[in-house]
Amino acid sequence: MRAVTWQSREHVSVETVPDPRIEEPNDAIVRVTSTAICGSDLHLYGVLGAFLDAGDVIGHEAMGVVEEVGPQAGDLRVGDRVVVPFGIACGRCWMCRRGLQSQCETTQVTAQGNGAALFGYTKLYGQVPGGQAEYLRVPQAQYGPVVVPDDGAPDERYLYLSDVLPTAWQAVEYAHVPDGGSVVVLGLGPVGQMAARIAAHRGAGLVIGVDLVPERLAMAARHGVTVLDSGRKDLADAVRDLTGGRGPDSVIDAVGMEAHGSPVAETMQKAAGILPDVIGKPLVKHAGTDRLAALLTAIELVRRGGVISLSGVYGGAKDPLPMLRLFDKQVTIRQGQANVRHWTDGLLRLAADPADPLGVQDLRTHRWPLERAAEAYAMFQRKEDGCIKVVLDPTA
Ligand SMILES: NC(=O)c1ccc[n+]([C@@H]2O[C@H](COP(=O)([O-])OP(=O)(O)OC[C@H]3O[C@@H](n4cnc5c(N)ncnc54)[C@H](O)[C@@H]3O)[C@@H](O)[C@H]2O)c1
Ligand SMILES: [Zn+2]
Ligand SMILES: [Zn+2]
Repeated sequence: MRAVTWQSREHVSVETVPDPRIEEPNDAIVRVTSTAICGSDLHLYGVLGAFLDAGDVIGHEAMGVVEEVGPQAGDLRVGDRVVVPFGIACGRCWMCRRGLQSQCETTQVTAQGNGAALFGYTKLYGQVPGGQAEYLRVPQAQYGPVVVPDDGAPDERYLYLSDVLPTAWQAVEYAHVPDGGSVVVLGLGPVGQMAARIAAHRGAGLVIGVDLVPERLAMAARHGVTVLDSGRKDLADAVRDLTGGRGPDSVIDAVGMEAHGSPVAETMQKAAGILPDVIGKPLVKHAGTDRLAALLTAIELVRRGGVISLSGVYGGAKDPLPMLRLFDKQVTIRQGQANVRHWTDGLLRLAADPADPLGVQDLRTHRWPLERAAEAYAMFQRKEDGCIKVVLDPTA
């Protein structure tokens, strides 16, 4: 089959690789019809390259049609139209039963001291071949795949159940925005776009979106979000002016994090150690600075007694944080990898609603054949051509 493979820093290519096969009784094989590129993939493209081998198949936002099932793949049937969650979970263990699928004790990558295995996401998360390919082997298929209506609707109606929608929903859940309250969403990539829309859908009175890319601000604005450019010097004052002088009840940080998918503190240190020093160290240092910039903005903006919800992951072991400020302002912080399957039943009802309450069909800016993946990664990374979300089509 044809698949997107990581080759080296900022170099991916579409190669012919062996077709995946059923390896475990609860596996399924999905013929992929749509597969998106995520902000998290940009981390692999860049700094996290040290944790991939040349030829690794990447991608974790895939949907398609079940082609084959193992004898223990539960109710899943050949021909089902399914979306595949980016995290692999069993649905039965202590963590899964508590809605913490990203910590699944069956698939935890214990060798790395990390949480549940992820598709297409480095040795840190199990080196499981990813979904930017013609076919995908899905472990734990008795639980993971979300069967969606075969209703003729375009894939983009359901595709984001794989990651963006549950991640954004969890970000809003963890933000605890009071009814009619205010929330600032930092970063208007796909995750931030959806977090902003979901916050409004769930009853926030004021949703403020902050980014530096004009077309991302414009997309949020057309969904009723009050937008502010992150570059303005008076950002904090502007936010306070909009929130009665107090600051917002909640801030969601949806800015890119180089350490996404790497919840343990050592990760960035490991990255610094494994990459050639001359490249790795300054990069990690720089990434650390960027991450802190967004978090510090969140800490500055949030009102006293408010909540910060992080949907990106902070990997620094020694990030200096303004503890006095956090303590004095009585700030709550919640974070973590999305527990995708915990949220998908409710989200599927919203995605399938013909009224499209979350506007899922206004997110993807480019749908390209899988063969153009290298070009697509470069465009998405550089935010060229108005690119906000790219979907690759292996059937084109
Ligand atoms: N927790 C999870 O399970 C989970 C799942 C998916 C993605 N993520 C993470 O969420 C983050 C966002 O993902 P995405 O696909 O939307 O990525 P993206 O790279 O498209 O979006 C990031 C956005 O942040 C903006 N930005 C950068 N610096 C900023 C600043 N200082 N202030 C305001 N905006 C700023 C960028 O312009 C961009 O629009 C990534 O780090 C990704 O790894 C987490
Ligand atoms: Zn993703
Ligand atoms: Zn589990």
